[in-house]
Amino acid sequence: MDTGYRFLARVEELENGQAKGFSIGHEKICLVKIDENLYAIEDFCSHAGGVMSTGVLDGVELICPLHGARFDVRNGRQTLGPSSTDQPTYPIHIEEGSVYVGKMSMEGF
Ligand code: FES
Repeated sequence: MDTGYRFLARVEELENGQAKGFSIGHEKICLVKIDENLYAIEDFCSHAGGVMSTGVLDGVELICPLHGARFDVRNGRQTLGPSSTDQPTYPIHIEEGSVYVGKMSMEGF
């Protein structure tokens, strides 16, 4: 049965406190590991396309490297501008050390 989830990475590819960019086709996905929990958000910032996986993590917030917008990686919510929108997220499924992502969610929009 097709669940719509696609393979993204192996769990061990990320250290705790690290963000890393991955691609599935044309989609660019930023995977973040915090306290052994994994979160996936779109890798292009909703403000002007900054590459989120090259930003800095501060707790559960990822700071865009271009203009400093902050997003909570757990739900994509913007916690500090200049972006005026939240960041799309992806549901994650982990099985036998492999990370799979579902369809992009724009719940916060
Ligand atoms: S591109 Fe991310 S804050 Fe501007």
